[in-house]
Amino acid sequence: ALLAPAARPLAGRHALVTSGPTHEPIDPVRYIANRSSGKQGHAIAAALAALGARVTLVSGPVAQPDPPGVTVVRIETAREMLAACEGALPADIAVMAAAVADWRVAREAGQKLKKEPGAEAPSLMMTLNPDILATLSHHAQRPGLVVGFAAETEKVVEHAIAKRRRKGCDWIVANDVSGTVMGGDANTVHLITAAGVEDWPELPKGAVAERLAARIAAALA
Ligand code: CTP
Ligand code: CA
Repeated sequence: ALLAPAARPLAGRHALVTSGPTHEPIDPVRYIANRSSGKQGHAIAAALAALGARVTLVSGPVAQPDPPGVTVVRIETAREMLAACEGALPADIAVMAAAVADWRVAREAGQKLKKEPGAEAPSLMMTLNPDILATLSHHAQRPGLVVGFAAETEKVVEHAIAKRRRKGCDWIVANDVSGTVMGGDANTVHLITAAGVEDWPELPKGAVAERLAARIAAALA
């Protein structure tokens, strides 16, 4: 059955969402990763689709099922995530929930690194990855509403307010990742906008996603 237009306030809008970790290769068999499960990002993609948006979900390697009705683009590295995001533009909404690796190994080894007898353990030389949120925030085809996340383990709101300015995004969803948030089912977040800081209660990640999607729909109405 067709839903009434009011139930699909994001009909005709394109939303770009990132989710999950990135994997940054060391050699053909090893990589650097992080604890992101993709639960929050995938739930946001599903919630935006439920409100009628056409959703492109750019995801790192996760065990989550593809949200129904969402176009999923699978990538591994931060550089692939950036290329996939730019390739998905134009978009009305961007929500960058991925835990993008800040650094990658400067020179990926073409062959598996070997333990040579008597040799020292290798040191990894790292280099900075592109910042996808900052790039989209300053893009010629900037989405109308750009929402970032801030993963913090201390001074959560203070750091997130500074991050919002630094990245040039409209909103930041700040969360304290010092506990069981990464991989867990619940999230306690603060929504930081130009108007100030909203403290949300602890909610299941699906409920955080629905509340954020409703706020996005209201902001675009
Ligand atoms: N992000 C991104 N590209 C990166 C790093 C982060 O797009 N290379 C995005 C994340 O998806 C998130 C936001 O930027 O929406 C903030 O990520 P976070 O790791 O909290 O902040 P950083 O700017 O990387 O700073 P730090 O890790 O030092 O706190
Ligand atoms: Ca980071």
